[in-house]
Amino acid sequence: MQCYVRRAILRAMRTTQRIADESAILTVAPLTGAMGAELSGIDLRDPLSDSALSEIRDALHSYGAVFFRDQPLTHDQHLVFARHFGALEEHPIVNGMESHPEIIRMHKPAGESASFGVGWHSDNSFLSEPSLGSIVRAEIVPPHGGDTLFTNMAAAYDGLSPGMKRLLDGLVAVHSASEAYTSDTAVDKYDGDTAITYRRSDAITNRVEHPVVRTHPESGHKALYVNPMFTLHFKDMSKEESAGLLDYLFRHATRGEFQCRFRWQPGSVAFWDNRLVMHNALNDYQGFERLLYRVTVAGDRPF
Ligand code: SIN
Repeated sequence: MQCYVRRAILRAMRTTQRIADESAILTVAPLTGAMGAELSGIDLRDPLSDSALSEIRDALHSYGAVFFRDQPLTHDQHLVFARHFGALEEHPIVNGMESHPEIIRMHKPAGESASFGVGWHSDNSFLSEPSLGSIVRAEIVPPHGGDTLFTNMAAAYDGLSPGMKRLLDGLVAVHSASEAYTSDTAVDKYDGDTAITYRRSDAITNRVEHPVVRTHPESGHKALYVNPMFTLHFKDMSKEESAGLLDYLFRHATRGEFQCRFRWQPGSVAFWDNRLVMHNALNDYQGFERLLYRVTVAGDRPF
């Protein structure tokens, strides 16, 4: 825990330095002591210089998620921005837009009960090369509710005892989309009866193995890499044997002091690093519409 607090202080010092640094392009305002920062002073529709992109990358790796306000991007501008950070994915199960297959239209019309992204997860951890990051922009938001929670899995790892870290460092977990995408609520989606539609694919039932603790390929930070939506059990252990420890890790990782919460406005853009954070879209806006667009940047095999 001490290490986590020290990192928060170092981050705060870095932020102050950055604001004072005349050459910095972005202003960085941290959301909480644990993670998340709002970046301002940039228009994402403009061509972005190498230094602006490197400030965004640095902030992403330091804070796990970065947020921009008042960015009325077109779909094409959204894609151009995202491509700066890597190749883009087409989701293997959720249908992308016909005009822009790499964009998922995350629409919940007023009154629809089906929802997307509800529950803690790291995007697409059921792939052997899970998504590096997700870049989401909001178009229609409810008058209240519909926030997204994020939690810092590197801070959660740092907060564990040395004995628990030693135990987890050697463990591998099995991930799959099978439970998330075969629930009762998904059936309507396969029939095309909800705003977001799904297609059946082998990606639903495939099982992949990932280390329980992964190392961030750019910053070297170690982070917990298990999530309640897609992690089924530890390798070579049954679900029952795994449940106690997994449940503890999920409760530990989602403690309030590791989190930040983002309140969307039309034109908000969020960019989170799936290698460092889990997120959870809150479904607390019954009777109101919410429309966000998501682009996912491809990642590599966790180690
Ligand atoms: C997701 O991408 O998992 C959902 C994000 C959101 O709707 O806030």
